[in-house]
Amino acid sequence: MKPTPMQVRRLTAAARRAAQSSYAPYSKFRVGAAVLTASGKILAGCNVENASFGLTNCAERTAVFKAVSDGHRKLLAVAVYTPTRVPTAPCGACRQVLHEFGPTAAVLCVCDSPERIETTLDQLLPESFGPENLD
Ligand code: THU
Repeated sequence: MKPTPMQVRRLTAAARRAAQSSYAPYSKFRVGAAVLTASGKILAGCNVENASFGLTNCAERTAVFKAVSDGHRKLLAVAVYTPTRVPTAPCGACRQVLHEFGPTAAVLCVCDSPERIETTLDQLLPESFGPENLD
């Protein structure tokens, strides 16, 4: 199901707001993300870095984990905000995690210019591996 224009506005606003909580003392790259659940809820998250760099959690995965731990397992859309002139698409690890709960989710990437990426998860992660492969 495609998100409505109103949902898209709320989702991108939530992603922008979430970036304000970003903990990124090492990269200084402050990312925010928000997911829209099938029940119409929006949950947002930011990237959380760690002095042991490999333990960093991206904003998208923080938002997904918040949704799932609140009982929302169906995701319709995700928005990502980066403080850049060009929009940034989710990294490979986040695409895989998003696939688990929103294999056809709409993906919107926004930034500090009017430029945006509007795509879907199945376009970003073709020939994917997921729960169906373990049936
Ligand atoms: N990052 C995200 O939060 N999402 C992405 O899709 C790409 C990268 C974060 C991880 C790290 O804190 C910083 O951006 C630089 O890689």
